[in-house]
Amino acid sequence: MLSRKMWYTVMAALIVASTLLGACAATSTPVPEAPEATQPPAAALAVGVVLPTKNEPRWIQDETRFKDAFAAAGYDVQILFSDGDSAKERSNVESLINQGVKVIVICPQDATAAGAAAAEARDAGVKVISYDRLIRDTDAVDYYVTFDSVEVGKLQGGYLVDHATGTGNPLYLYAGAASDNNAFLFFEGAWDMLQPKIADGTFVIKNSSEAVALQDKATLTRDEMGQIIGQVTTDWDFAVAKNLAEANLTAATAADKGDVFILAPNDGTSRSIADVFAADADVTSYVITGQDAEEPSIQYIIDGKQTMTVLKDVRTLVADAIAASVAYLTGGTPEETTTYNNGVIDVPAKPSEVIAVDQSNVVSAVIDSGYWPASDFTGLP
Ligand code: BGC
Repeated sequence: MLSRKMWYTVMAALIVASTLLGACAATSTPVPEAPEATQPPAAALAVGVVLPTKNEPRWIQDETRFKDAFAAAGYDVQILFSDGDSAKERSNVESLINQGVKVIVICPQDATAAGAAAAEARDAGVKVISYDRLIRDTDAVDYYVTFDSVEVGKLQGGYLVDHATGTGNPLYLYAGAASDNNAFLFFEGAWDMLQPKIADGTFVIKNSSEAVALQDKATLTRDEMGQIIGQVTTDWDFAVAKNLAEANLTAATAADKGDVFILAPNDGTSRSIADVFAADADVTSYVITGQDAEEPSIQYIIDGKQTMTVLKDVRTLVADAIAASVAYLTGGTPEETTTYNNGVIDVPAKPSEVIAVDQSNVVSAVIDSGYWPASDFTGLP
């Protein structure tokens, strides 16, 4: 939940933003003598947002929270979706540049492919804020608004560790899309927690020969993580996740099943994978991770079909993106607490906190915090 102090900060940022977002935004003080001033050209728009896809509830959340935050100040923001396509993403960025924006907030579909769009924005004098996912292999990124993604992976891996007893527990690993830098950060965090417990025999990896080959290494290089991710990627796609889980369980023996532990990278893939494991007669029980606190997964957690998620409060991320935009629009620099290397430069950032959510704290973390209304769920404790 946003602290009171943070809400004041956000509101202050929005008020500043409201003076800067251009006359195209709804204004409470139209000038009667100059009707054209109430219908100004789109070129006056100061900030645009480009999100990757509408196919996942996660990014619809971001769209809604962006709209809410800008609406709170009485202004519009232009939010464009890339339909999972880097070419569409680039044309979205070009459209915003042509409208004269000063800042573009981009969540890249493909970390490296987005570099060309970022460079085009930089050449046009536009500030580029990488949103949630880092744009890689370019110097044309000014700031990175993010959650602590390594911590997300640590919460996921740590949850599996905390719920395993004895030795020989079957472990199934799944990862995000290799084109998303976050997939590496999540995996890095999870591996950090899981590897010691694989090395001591608590867990036995069942679905990745690449991970087995590297299981004695406490710290993996990006290339090594890439080898594992290449074998267990879901591509952030529900259908890919389902097919991979089915293939894994088909290849596994009954002895590889029983009480299993599953590292699932996010909520959408977690629900797909959980459904597959739940349908296997040789799986007695499963503990499965997720992230994003998507509404369908909160219902799954209440119903005991998904074990945990990681709440990444998108309201905070949106507030940070707006604050960073305002800093640029006023000639300032956004707050920096750390940097993330994108392969070319260290990008300044201020990562936000994340929290693990399961049945024990779902009401306080997700409902009482105002993140989702209780009326959207059935069977709440
Ligand atoms: C985001 C996750 C999201 C995933 C799939 C990641 O980059 O950080 O929140 O679930 O992409 O869209």
